[in-house]
Amino acid sequence: MTVPRHVAIIMDGNGRWASRRGLPRSAGHRAGLKPVRMCIEQCRQLGIPYLTLFAFSSENWNRPVTEVGFLMNLFIETLEKELDDLARQLVEVRFIGDRSALGAPIVERIEAAEARVVEGAQLRLTIALAYGGRWDLVQAARALAQDVATGALSFEQIDEAAIGRRVSLGGLPDPDLFIRTGGEKRISNFLLWNLAYSELWFCDRLWPEFDADDFAMAVREFGGRERRFGGVPGAGSH
Ligand code: IPE
Ligand code: IPE
Ligand code: MG
Repeated sequence: MTVPRHVAIIMDGNGRWASRRGLPRSAGHRAGLKPVRMCIEQCRQLGIPYLTLFAFSSENWNRPVTEVGFLMNLFIETLEKELDDLARQLVEVRFIGDRSALGAPIVERIEAAEARVVEGAQLRLTIALAYGGRWDLVQAARALAQDVATGALSFEQIDEAAIGRRVSLGGLPDPDLFIRTGGEKRISNFLLWNLAYSELWFCDRLWPEFDADDFAMAVREFGGRERRFGGVPGAGSH
């Protein structure tokens, strides 16, 4: 069975999970840590080398300040608690998103996490924080413009590869499998450039209840799909 090389997930439904239990939304965010650990473990077991998780979008700044504050503290606390364990599990951590929008305490943790060298890493975990697909394309366009202005790049050299290298996930293979929990069927400004040919998989389960069986089901369904990349059936991919 074909296993995806790169899985990208929109972890949605924390708030509804909590509300249904009469709990504050923050309890749902905290409960959302368990499925994160599960996904990391599943990727390691299945030999999936890239996992990208959407933790906080550029639009999530529109939430009440108390919820945003809770989430930022949760990210800081979790990074502190889990980094050693992740390194032991041969997981290297990277972040994508607009760091200028984040406070100094969280940026410090992000930089410390990224500075850690994991010898023989088996999984690259990328966390999208203060990330938006449109922001990503804007920063790539600026980087291109700057390179053209300085003469490092000519106008004719602007092609898909040149843009692909400058988007935040530049250098990583595109996600093969996109998963969204929580029932909504939309991209919500996630990886607009990189999801061009990803297989999309949606489920109604809310993120805190997403378990290893659900993950396995998504991977199994992915294995049964025929990816044609615009070609004709049966001709294989590419
Ligand atoms: C996803 O869950 C987590 C973040 C966006 C940070 P939500 O908080 O969006 O949960 P719902 O969609 O309101 O249930
Ligand atoms: C997408 O979920 C962002 C994250 C999971 C971090 P949202 O709950 O913010 O998306 P919408 O508002 O339903 O599109
Ligand atoms: Mg949501």
